[in-house]
Order: sequence, then C-alpha cells, then structure tokens
Amino acid sequence: MNPIKFKNIQDLIDEDFDLIFPLEIRRKSATHFTPIKIAKAAAEFLATEPGIRILDVGSGAGKFCIVGALITNAHFTGVEQRKSLCDCSNEIANKYGLENVSFLNANMNRVKFSDFGAFYLFNPFFENLSPESAIDQKVFLDDELYLEYSDYVQKQLSTMPVGTRVVTYHSSGPEIPNTYKLKDSLFKTHLKFWIKQS
Ligand SMILES: C[S@@+](CC[C@H](N)C(=O)[O-])C[C@H]1O[C@@H](n2cnc3c(N)ncnc32)[C@H](O)[C@@H]1O
Repeated sequence: MNPIKFKNIQDLIDEDFDLIFPLEIRRKSATHFTPIKIAKAAAEFLATEPGIRILDVGSGAGKFCIVGALITNAHFTGVEQRKSLCDCSNEIANKYGLENVSFLNANMNRVKFSDFGAFYLFNPFFENLSPESAIDQKVFLDDELYLEYSDYVQKQLSTMPVGTRVVTYHSSGPEIPNTYKLKDSLFKTHLKFWIKQS
C-alpha cells in the first residue's frame, strides 16, 4: 500500500498513514508524533495564506509537516535535532515528491523564527524533564535545557508581528509570551490555538 496516495488523507487512520515510516520509527508514532486529525486542525489554523512558511519546532520524523503539506498550500519546515529522524523525514519527502515541505537537522535554537510566519510545537522540550519518556537516549537531556529552550522560543515569538499564529499540542505553555491570546482549544484542551495581539 502507498498510504500517501490516498486523496483524502483525513480518511486515513494513523496506523495506515504510519506505514510511510520504517518499523523502528513507526513504533514511536502513537506517543511521539501528531495524530492526523490533530495535525489537520493545527495546519488549517496556521495556513492562513498560500505559501505561508510554517515551522514545526522539533519535527520528529516529519508527520505533522507531511500531513500539513498534503492538505494545505502552505510551506512546512521541520527542525529536528535527531539526525536519524530528520533523515527519515527527508527521505519520505523525496520519495513522495512533496515540494512544500523541507527538514533541517539542527537544534531549534539555531533557527531565526522571523524567517517564518506561523509555528507548531508538540511539547518538544518535555523530554528534558522526563528523560525516561524520550524518543531515545541519543541526545543530551537536562532539566535546565527545558527552561533554556522554552525561553529561546518565548523570545523569538515575542519579536513576531501582531497576528502571528501558534499552535501548541500537549504543552503547558511556558514558551508562549503573554502578548499571545488563547483563541481556542480542542481535543480536551490539549490542542491550543494562539494569536499575537500586541
Ligand atoms: C513530541 S516529538 C514531535 C514530533 C513532530 N513535531 C510531530 O508532531 O509529529 C518532539 C521532537 O522534538 C525534538 N526536539 C526536542 N528538542 C529539540 C531542539 N532543541 N531542537 C530540535 N528538535 C528538538 C525531539 O527530538 C522530538 O523528535
């Protein structure tokens, strides 16, 4: 089966979509990657105009970006610190000829947020507070990094223009500046929609 050939991606169940990932990475999906219905709601809120550049901060194997790229006209960039996951997402994008998605293997604190128009975060820094729940033990994890990374995101988001949209999933929100207003929340409030007000 070629899951990505399905025209209506929202008709796919996650288990079928996840066949695009190699088995070892697929096993992480239920816990660590955004489910299709969540990705769809988030991408539709962020993709306010064709070509808008959306950054997934900590993109894993690329699931959020790939779903977003398939269902909107926005351009999705994922930044991911784990090389094996980033390589996997680039291979999938190449294999399926996805032109509106790209992936960067880097720490997100090397990325200038002003190059983007909207942002998605699936609680990327939590692994620093709970190393036993991390995707793997291949990166250095430390609770001070949680604060450092959240602070970097907060400072970057503060410099964005009024109207900037952010979606957080399973986040308690320390990375969201108080100039952003919570506009809505779905999926038992785990998915939060923010817009910069001032
Ligand atoms: C919960 S997963 C979410 C994956 C993807 N956004 C999705 O929804 O399918 C969080 C990812 O963030 C990555 N990450 C954590 N801290 C990071 C950092 N400082 N820079 C880049 N990636 C980071 C982790 O390696 C992990 O793959």
